[in-house]
Amino acid sequence: MTRPIHRQAWKSLERHASMMRKVRMRDLFNNDPQRFERFSLQVGELFLDYSKNIMIDKTMSKLMDLARASKVEEWRAKMFAGEKINFTENRAVLHVALRNRANTPIYVDGEDVMPKVNAVLERMRRFSEAVREGQWLGYTGKRITDVVNLGVGGSDLGPKMVCEALASYARSDLRAHFVSNVAPSDIVSTLKKVDPETTLFIVASKTFTTQETLANAHTAKRWFLEHAKDEAHVSRHFVAVSTNAEAVRAFGIDTENMFEFWDWVGGRYSLWSAIGLSIAVHVGFEHFEQLLSGAHAMDQHFLHAPLEQNMPVILAMLGIWYANFFGAESYAVLPYGTRLRSLPAYLQQADMESNGKSVDRDSQWVDYNTGPILWGGHGTNGQHAFFELLHQGTRLVPCDFIAAANTHNPAGHQHAILLSHMLAQTRALMLGRTLAEVELEMREQGVDEATIRRLAPHKVIPGNKPSNVILMRDHTPFSLGMLIALYEHKIFVQGIVWRINSFDQWGVELGKQMASSILSRLLADEPVSEYDSSTNNLIRVIKGMMHP
Ligand code: F6P
Repeated sequence: MTRPIHRQAWKSLERHASMMRKVRMRDLFNNDPQRFERFSLQVGELFLDYSKNIMIDKTMSKLMDLARASKVEEWRAKMFAGEKINFTENRAVLHVALRNRANTPIYVDGEDVMPKVNAVLERMRRFSEAVREGQWLGYTGKRITDVVNLGVGGSDLGPKMVCEALASYARSDLRAHFVSNVAPSDIVSTLKKVDPETTLFIVASKTFTTQETLANAHTAKRWFLEHAKDEAHVSRHFVAVSTNAEAVRAFGIDTENMFEFWDWVGGRYSLWSAIGLSIAVHVGFEHFEQLLSGAHAMDQHFLHAPLEQNMPVILAMLGIWYANFFGAESYAVLPYGTRLRSLPAYLQQADMESNGKSVDRDSQWVDYNTGPILWGGHGTNGQHAFFELLHQGTRLVPCDFIAAANTHNPAGHQHAILLSHMLAQTRALMLGRTLAEVELEMREQGVDEATIRRLAPHKVIPGNKPSNVILMRDHTPFSLGMLIALYEHKIFVQGIVWRINSFDQWGVELGKQMASSILSRLLADEPVSEYDSSTNNLIRVIKGMMHP
């Protein structure tokens, strides 16, 4: 085993970084008119400008050396071949099979998974069309007007983000709602908005054991039966998406109404599976298929392009550059436009649940940083909230700006205004404003010297803050599919370099176990003494505050 930090390529990057930390991007741009041409890339519908990074050709070639030494290409081949690279759960990682539009065989345990992938897709097509065309009717014979997805984590964030992003493709008479939180306001407020006669609930849970989702599903079913009065009507209004037929049956949903997927689909990689049913119903199956096609196009690029021209690999290695050689603790995802407002939350799970790990492939604790904190928000709103820290804070936060050149909702020059802000932010982050520039400007405005001395330092923007810009021509299902797959593969590559398992999530289990024990104590009358004194007393205080 070679730990990443012992690799030659890593050590060479460390030496290189000590030199690059002194380099200013504004000088790199001044000295090289070709910089944009050399550090930008078009792949299908996506365009990436990565020229505003603190790097030169030599940096990129050293980063690619590290990727090669980490055997990224070999692991990539293993993933696409259905090998069980999720080594703590002994599972294949095959979200790429779900969108394998070429339909080439992909084997798991000697079985080609494509026939069952295609069979579920066909069921999704028939079901979503029946709902959309008014053939699937509610218990009183009315059309379905509202679809409520009950799920959490990967069974919520992906479909929700995509439905919002593709809202322009949706029918106004078929609304989608997403209920994820066990906090009762989520389900209660949604139920107030819908009509039991015309609402379809999709209970989306890979395991069908997730407490929050089942609690919401039971509440929804109770509410439904208060109106419909007859269990027999449940089948017209509740369908399930799961890998667990037995639990679906136990909940009271006929497995005829269950859309299946498999253990080789990770929850946070599952929007391409039947978990995407709410997408297919809301925006139409043909658009869901275009989403799959976009992701497939990115898969093919990731699989075949040389590392140096490979968009996910470039983004991944630049991320490693800052996380491991510049001490960056986080990175920000900044989509410009309201439709992609949930992309940061979606990517937060994709990245942080995948690469927030501390033990490597050899079951050893790592002695280097792995996954960064992903955060962000949509522009321009973020500019009026947290961008100050990006520009003048003490921390380095690399940023990804994302935008479409066109909008589905033109309103005068508003879209151009939006784009101008994005371009200004990425330029301002790179360029900053020096003390000399600030002083000059103040002098030109006639400000006196004492005020200049006092105020000028506050107006200095250090600059040299790296950012990528990812552009699409139009905000289509296809380009969105490419974009999501781009990030999935970026996360994959980083996990390989860090030698961690990006496909399990044991960390979230401990809290789940504790919560079920604490719940029983919260609901009991006796005083609690078995936990630490903080937990015991918080339970006592909460019980004291609870209304009888
Ligand atoms: O708690 C984390 C998690 O297991 C995620 O990985 C998953 O996306 C989410 O819970 C929901 O799980 P399920 O689809 O099984 O309800």
